[in-house]
Amino acid sequence: MVKLSGRLEKIYAMIEPGERVADVGTDHALLPIALYARGRSHSPILSDARPGPLEKARANIARLLPGAVFDLRLGDGLAPYARGEADVVVIAGMGGRLIADILSADAEKSRSFGRFVLQPRNASDKLRLRLGELGFAVTDEALAEEGGRICEIIRASPVPPAKGAAVAAPLALRRAETLLAAGGAAAEISPLLFGKAEPLLAPWLERKLRTADAVSERLLAAGAGKEALLEKSRARAALLRDLLDILRP
Ligand SMILES: C[S@@+](CC[C@H](N)C(=O)[O-])C[C@H]1O[C@@H](n2cnc3c(N)ncnc32)[C@H](O)[C@@H]1O
Repeated sequence: MVKLSGRLEKIYAMIEPGERVADVGTDHALLPIALYARGRSHSPILSDARPGPLEKARANIARLLPGAVFDLRLGDGLAPYARGEADVVVIAGMGGRLIADILSADAEKSRSFGRFVLQPRNASDKLRLRLGELGFAVTDEALAEEGGRICEIIRASPVPPAKGAAVAAPLALRRAETLLAAGGAAAEISPLLFGKAEPLLAPWLERKLRTADAVSERLLAAGAGKEALLEKSRARAALLRDLLDILRP
């Protein structure tokens, strides 16, 4: 049995049985190895921009799945793939700006794939904004903990969501949407997380709140000249408290 980290398990869960998966920046190849070993995806395609990680992938496949033949490709982003070649493309463990650049390199080609599962290590707000610019809809979000950090996982599709979806959305989602839009944080925190029982959402927001409170305290201690920044930081803390209130029973 191939063991995945909590982060990779959450990414795995966003892939439907039988889908053809492309894993861009595969490195250790543990995700496609698990997809194959557990029978969820029979012919994954793996790629990496550098030969070293691709060799690591090859070695792990030989060790964990002796005899299995995987399609491994060397190349930048989506360049090693034909248009629409995979049902779902995973791009995980890279910076949000790099993922955004990979998607933007050939926007039309990016839109030819059915779905993306993206796990930015940082700058997720920049990535969400770029997804919107490129005509992608975020259809699901999840949080996962790894190495003491809470990571964001974004599922996005070029198909726009059906009209009327917002009306049917749970109350918590709609309240979060309103607060996040008013607070200018809709690209940073996805309202979709409020519409599902995401167990890491409260601890993640609490971490952000602790940081905002610490920033406010430092600005207060710094004294004159910091009033505007202090106001901004306090407004952010107030927004985070309001969002946490939504989660209280
Ligand atoms: C930290 S590893 C992530 C491995 C795995 N995807 C995961 O989430 O655990 C990042 C990998 O992305 C690869 N990479 C970086 N830029 C890339 C690009 N533009 N196209 C394809 N792969 C890239 C690196 O070589 C490295 O192997």
